[in-house]
Amino acid sequence: MLLVATQTIAAAGGPVNYDPDTHVFTLSSAQVTYAFGVNERGELQSLYWGGHRAPDDTLPAARPDTGSASFDPSTGSTPQEYAAWGSALYTEPALKVSFPDGNRDLVLHYLSHTLNGSHLSVLLKDISRDVRVELRYDIDPDSGILARSARIENHTGKPLVVQQAAAATWNLPAGSDYVLHSLSGRWAGEWQLDHRPVLPSQTVLESRRGSTGEQNNPWFALTSGGANEDTGPVWFGALAWSGSWRITVEPDIWHRVRVTGGYNPFDFSYRLAPGESLETPTFFAGYTPGGLGEASRLLHRFELGHVLPQAPHPRPRPVLYNSWEATQFNVNEAGQMKLAEIAAGIGVERFVMDDGWFGARDSDHAGLGDWVVNPRKFPHGLQPLIAKVHALGMDFGLWVEPEMVNPDSDLYRKHPDWVLNFPGRPRTEGRNQLVLNLARQDVRDHIFHVLDDLLTQNDIAFFKWDYNRNWSEPGWPEQKPQDQQKVYVSYVQNLYWILQHLRERHPKLEIESCSGGGGRVDLGIMRFTDEVWPSDNTDPFDRLSIQDGFTYPYTPGVMMAWVTDSPNWVNQRSTSLEYRFLSSMQGALGIGADLSRWNQQDLQTAKRLVDGYKGIRMTVQQGLLYRLISPRDGSEYSATQSVSTDGRQAVVFGFLHSSSMLNPYPRIHLQGLDPKGRYRLRVLAGKPGEDTPEEASGAHWMSEGLQLMLKGDFQAAAVVLERVAQ
Ligand code: GLA
Repeated sequence: MLLVATQTIAAAGGPVNYDPDTHVFTLSSAQVTYAFGVNERGELQSLYWGGHRAPDDTLPAARPDTGSASFDPSTGSTPQEYAAWGSALYTEPALKVSFPDGNRDLVLHYLSHTLNGSHLSVLLKDISRDVRVELRYDIDPDSGILARSARIENHTGKPLVVQQAAAATWNLPAGSDYVLHSLSGRWAGEWQLDHRPVLPSQTVLESRRGSTGEQNNPWFALTSGGANEDTGPVWFGALAWSGSWRITVEPDIWHRVRVTGGYNPFDFSYRLAPGESLETPTFFAGYTPGGLGEASRLLHRFELGHVLPQAPHPRPRPVLYNSWEATQFNVNEAGQMKLAEIAAGIGVERFVMDDGWFGARDSDHAGLGDWVVNPRKFPHGLQPLIAKVHALGMDFGLWVEPEMVNPDSDLYRKHPDWVLNFPGRPRTEGRNQLVLNLARQDVRDHIFHVLDDLLTQNDIAFFKWDYNRNWSEPGWPEQKPQDQQKVYVSYVQNLYWILQHLRERHPKLEIESCSGGGGRVDLGIMRFTDEVWPSDNTDPFDRLSIQDGFTYPYTPGVMMAWVTDSPNWVNQRSTSLEYRFLSSMQGALGIGADLSRWNQQDLQTAKRLVDGYKGIRMTVQQGLLYRLISPRDGSEYSATQSVSTDGRQAVVFGFLHSSSMLNPYPRIHLQGLDPKGRYRLRVLAGKPGEDTPEEASGAHWMSEGLQLMLKGDFQAAAVVLERVAQ
């Protein structure tokens, strides 16, 4: 074994440790231990990932697997932290390269490591060629969530091509009853939760679309031993990347499950000239023995505390009004001012003008790319509207879709070569638009300057940043043919660059990531965006399962939810205003209805519920979420509970689809309260059962439960439990 150099700057007993006798690395939090070691061949071998191990339960040195007969030699069956394709590897490699001489064999062995606080970096090198991979590890001592990424460096003196590069492989212990939980969907039907047994073949979750996509979300959870929402072991992870991505899940010959995720290798190729390197995205992952509910709460806390741009103390989301469903493209100064007046009257804090305010944008056929205020709709620019919105006590937000262009636009007429395209081939349109090639420096700079000017000239607090199609014909003709596929990496890096630099230059700016709904929600974009739009589907009943699925990986603190008009355009379903409000109050509340059609009673109901929401939003957005009754179990009922981080407030929402057979609404058994604490009940909407006490212990609310009186179709109730000082 080659042991070149080690440098250790961490005190023993810290979150990251290295045992020089056994060559074992250990990353620990109070609940979780993750360990790997250098085996006798020099491979970085995965050893353990699960509940916290006591310090005296030392892990033995890494010993390579025996393999199986002549068909599965030890080099392939030994679980590695980051296996390159080479030697005899038949499972998914983390890295695959090709060299100019035709060699495609790469075998990575340990070279050195650096240890610093909660950060560990391990350097691997090929057995004969100077290709190095730096593996980075971090552990959050609070949640036990690990962050892993890799940098691939070419020191060979000749170019090489990276054909496949993952951020990490996660190795789970052997088991024969693993269940994979993942999220799938499509436009207006995002965030559907799937469960499937892990069988002896590979399962692929991916996007080949150039962005995150609605069809799969880059999140997984693996349970075993019959784990459910409330209990049992869960290994979970989320990839922080907003371009094409792939996560594979496969059991090896001994039923150990390997999860590998990073850039999607489909159509991928990244040439590294001598001295160049490629960074992978970060893959976050965690473990809990506390079921899927606890896995979500750990991720939520981690996002609020470490991922979001305002972490560790994100500002609660303001109550927002958006004009899209009210006006579509027919925006103008007088109409927006009128909506703003009504919105302010019911307690809205942020007024957002959606699509239609710029260029020749009267429909989705023209104007994208021309970010100049339309003079017919806004003869004096945006200033009078913004001043009015401010005078009404709200801040102002604006819809933009900067990465896109309509062929019918001044920008496209001037720069038809700025879009992704293969010369001489058709350019497939989606919603009459093409994708600007952000990988080009000139396009990146143009978008940045246009938005920077808009923000400099107008007092804009918020961008709804939309992205309404996926890639097609992803050519980058200005690049050398062998470098064109770098577009999959450079585009997203430049998108992040624009978002980061706009925020730096305009520190007040908040951003929502929208992609025709929930098509670009991931931990990569969430480092630069304060909130996300889960779905264009605003039907309040459909939203219950959409929102439920969303919360498996992502915090309700970023989940925008609008109250819109009834009947809703998606299913033509009619629901009461109160039902619509309660559905949206499970996330970050917005209103997207045509307020000019609301009567006095509607406006009073809205004002009451907006007021009520402001008193619970910190709990809903940043508290601990318990999915008490899932809307997707085929039952008529669903219920959630959120508990504030200081334990002083709990908020319960209950929803009924339709009563039948005189069945009563089920008793809701609360969770996460202090059994000895006393909690006073306050009703926000709906009615509790007649025998419900006004005040009781946490033990009572958890064991006796709470009875809500819900009967009829599309009924909802919300109650608050406030802890009584003792
Ligand atoms: C997308 C968004 C909508 C709206 C329209 C505007 O579809 O998801 O909310 O902003 O674009 O064109």
